[in-house]
Amino acid sequence: MSAYNILLLGSGGRESAIAWKLRQSKYCKELFIAPGNAGTAQYGSNINLSVTDFEEVKRICLENKIDILFPGGEDALVAGIWDFFKNDADLKHIVVAGPSKEGAQLEGSKAFSKKFMQRHNIPTAAYREFTEENFDEGVEYLKHHELPIVLKADGLAAGKGVVIAQDHTEAIGTFTTMIKEAQFGDASKKVVVEAFLSGIELSVFVLSDGTNYVRLPEAKDYKRIGEGDTGPNTGGMGAISPVPFATGDFMQKVTDRIIDPTVKGLAAENITYQGFIFFGLIEVKGEPYVIEYNCRMGDPETEVVMPRLENDLVELIIAMHENRLNEVEVKHDERAACTVMLVSEGYPGSYPKGKTMSGFEGVHDSILFHAGTAIKDGHTVTNGGRVIAITSYGKNLQNALATSFENAAHIQYEGKYYRRDIGYEFM
Ligand code: AMP
Ligand code: GLY
Repeated sequence: MSAYNILLLGSGGRESAIAWKLRQSKYCKELFIAPGNAGTAQYGSNINLSVTDFEEVKRICLENKIDILFPGGEDALVAGIWDFFKNDADLKHIVVAGPSKEGAQLEGSKAFSKKFMQRHNIPTAAYREFTEENFDEGVEYLKHHELPIVLKADGLAAGKGVVIAQDHTEAIGTFTTMIKEAQFGDASKKVVVEAFLSGIELSVFVLSDGTNYVRLPEAKDYKRIGEGDTGPNTGGMGAISPVPFATGDFMQKVTDRIIDPTVKGLAAENITYQGFIFFGLIEVKGEPYVIEYNCRMGDPETEVVMPRLENDLVELIIAMHENRLNEVEVKHDERAACTVMLVSEGYPGSYPKGKTMSGFEGVHDSILFHAGTAIKDGHTVTNGGRVIAITSYGKNLQNALATSFENAAHIQYEGKYYRRDIGYEFM
């Protein structure tokens, strides 16, 4: 194998962890991160760019002789960056680590993913979909639906398109704003109404070459802003890996009932999919169900998955491209890993930016994955809601978490907040 020039799209903690991992590969020649953040510059060159400006992505790829394009998030994939590359004579030789626009619909359309699961008998919550056309029928349906009721905007809504209504009035109100007032724009013109599943969530990841796949370490993320899983949803406040209950029998069910039928179903329907599949699962009385699919890695899960993945990531991407993932054995680091996200005061609502950060020299035995950070006048400053992820290894979760919490105390900026209970169910 030769070495490759790689362009990674994105700027979050996930992209920091992917960049960190790519940089360790002996097959990584030059690495570019677009747009990146203050931390990603230690792994490669940051290039300022909007990830959905495909003409600009093209220009950068040609200028830097890029061999591999790695879209970190869903935006470019759902907008069809794979198709854009494969339909352009100058770009089609470039390996894209992600699915076609059609494959990305697994994340880009809740209705598409529900129908896909139905066709392939993949366990998921019972559902119905509604639009303006059958709005009245939807209201009637909601009136008699068991509580709580889950309402999902069909399209991408930056993680905000899911509402769990506790009573019928709230459900009908939400339904009305989503459809009639286009609360999430085009994304909520169609709404999926589904049964509420009660259980414990986990995230399972595979890299698929369209026929074969390898499973990466699983993880559990903590979405709510408040300790004890209270308050509004965020992009993720921390994560752990491994997940203590994701073992033997349960993972066999996940493989047989969910992963295999998904990969085979995509192939059977001729949907081009070479990339990551993120299974957002929930365990209900020992049985796994799919809550959602994503067409990319998770954030902050990647900040624990990449540290626990022992394989060379570029080697995996090339094996994916060459349909050889069946020849690859994935090795998981035996150690536990956790990540604790430091966020800005006010997040997930409005928050200030540009707060000077200090105390980095006091951090030991953790990896800092920058998320919302920037450099201003030579200083690292906050530049987002989720600021920095502190990842640690440990011989068990307790040890890993103790290290991250200790280091979380060293980093300073005005308005710093983090959850001190990541991993609490397993302590
Ligand atoms: P999603 O954007 O589909 O991942 O949904 C966001 C969050 O809403 C999930 O992580 C779950 O915590 C919750 N959720 C979604 N669907 C359901 C469901 N059917 N039952 C219970 N919780 C759900
Ligand atoms: N951690 C959930 C996500 O990346 O969508």
